[in-house]
Amino acid sequence: MQISIIYSSENGHNQRMAEAVLRGCESRQGVTTHLFKISDDDFSGSRWSNDEVMTVLDKSDAIIMGSPTFMGSVSSKLKAFMEASVTRYIPETWKGKIAAGFTVSGATAGDKFNTLSTMTTFAMQHGMIWVGLGSNPFNNDEGVNATGHYYGATGRAELDEDPAVAPAASELKAGELLGARVASYVQRLAIS
Ligand SMILES: Cc1cc2nc3c(=O)[nH]c(=O)nc-3n(C[C@H](O)[C@H](O)[C@H](O)COP(=O)(O)O)c2cc1C
Repeated sequence: MQISIIYSSENGHNQRMAEAVLRGCESRQGVTTHLFKISDDDFSGSRWSNDEVMTVLDKSDAIIMGSPTFMGSVSSKLKAFMEASVTRYIPETWKGKIAAGFTVSGATAGDKFNTLSTMTTFAMQHGMIWVGLGSNPFNNDEGVNATGHYYGATGRAELDEDPAVAPAASELKAGELLGARVASYVQRLAIS
């Protein structure tokens, strides 16, 4: 079973969240993971273009997206990836795959919901199955999902904060839980 995480991060905060999600995925046995950070090298002009990554995503049972919240939505890098995936939209290549998402933004709310719902809409367009966080703040004493974002894993880190301390441990824990949850659904559906 294969899970791919594709994300962008300029200042390292979403990278830490991506690594937490990866740990969660890898906490389940029998799961192979692929971690892709979108970089300038993936672009051909203004278009995202990396066939190698696309081929791995084609073979993955789940695709987890991550992005900073920039001006209330996904980063231009993740959006460019989303647009490039139109080549998979017409033939429905990703239909039935599991999808999930995460975002770290500077403010506690910060319009993160719009970032996660943009990812969700994208997944729906592809016919994918969205897996949310599945943790509410009232059923744990670790501060997981204290801000009540249910569409995915979220964190808070201002641009100049040291990624070693932000996002907080409780937010990274949410990332781990999301990764483990996605892996458990991939296993339950036994897609491959
Ligand atoms: C261009 C730009 C736009 C941003 N827009 C928002 C926003 O809408 N809401 C918010 O809470 N934070 C916003 N931020 C803060 C970032 O989301 C935040 O610092 C995040 O942790 C950066 O992630 P990264 O370190 O993975 O790049 C913005 C930052 C930049 C540079």
